[in-house]
Amino acid sequence: MHFKKIVGEKVYLSPRSVDDAEKYVAWLNTFDIAKFLDQNTKVITVEGEKEYLAKNDSNSYNFAIVDAKTDELIGSIGLMDVDYVHRTAELGIFIGDDDHLSHGYGSEAIKLLLDFGFNQLNLNNIMLKAISFNKRALRAYEKCGFKLFGTWPKSHYVEGKYYDLVYMYITKDDFNNNK
Ligand SMILES: CC(C)(COP(=O)(O)OP(=O)(O)OC[C@H]1O[C@@H](n2cnc3c(N)ncnc32)[C@H](O)[C@@H]1OP(=O)(O)O)[C@@H](O)C(=O)NCCC(=O)NCCS
Repeated sequence: MHFKKIVGEKVYLSPRSVDDAEKYVAWLNTFDIAKFLDQNTKVITVEGEKEYLAKNDSNSYNFAIVDAKTDELIGSIGLMDVDYVHRTAELGIFIGDDDHLSHGYGSEAIKLLLDFGFNQLNLNNIMLKAISFNKRALRAYEKCGFKLFGTWPKSHYVEGKYYDLVYMYITKDDFNNNK
């Protein structure tokens, strides 16, 4: 069951549901999705995923990304490590459904969550990290206003090679001034 907690044009963000565990598990056990999320070495089970989805962590805001036209679950997005002193958090996202990749769904979901983070939670600075080969994600983040602030060279190992981790951030002012 999904609920229209944060509503955009192409997608809405809903509290996540334990009922969606199997769909998430299928996506997270798919190498071509998992390799972008540092999940390719993890063995994720339906039981484990149900437990994870049922947890209520006060420093995280996790949502299902739902297609606004069809009400179909297409992915997941969240803010984690929310710090109420420094007003910072880390954003994570994935679109699991192939047909919805590279059609603007991810960027819209990110902008909806940034608006929630900055203008509802009153956060001031949100960061994320991506693996350097994830050009689609880097482009989506750049479109949403994220700026590069560093790389950690050769710190991520996938399929026999080391890659850089890329760090990006966006401030509340930058977000609100470019809405
Ligand atoms: C990253 C992700 C959330 C972005 O969402 P999305 O809906 O696919 O992204 P958007 O359509 O909003 O934007 C993608 C942009 O990258 C471009 N793009 C796609 N493939 C690309 C590639 N190989 N190289 C460069 N740019 C690429 C698209 O053309 C688009 O840019 P444009 O609007 O200027 O044409 C989504 O692709 C995803 O979940 N991927 C798998 C998991 C993942 O990588 N999660 C992020 C981990 S850091």
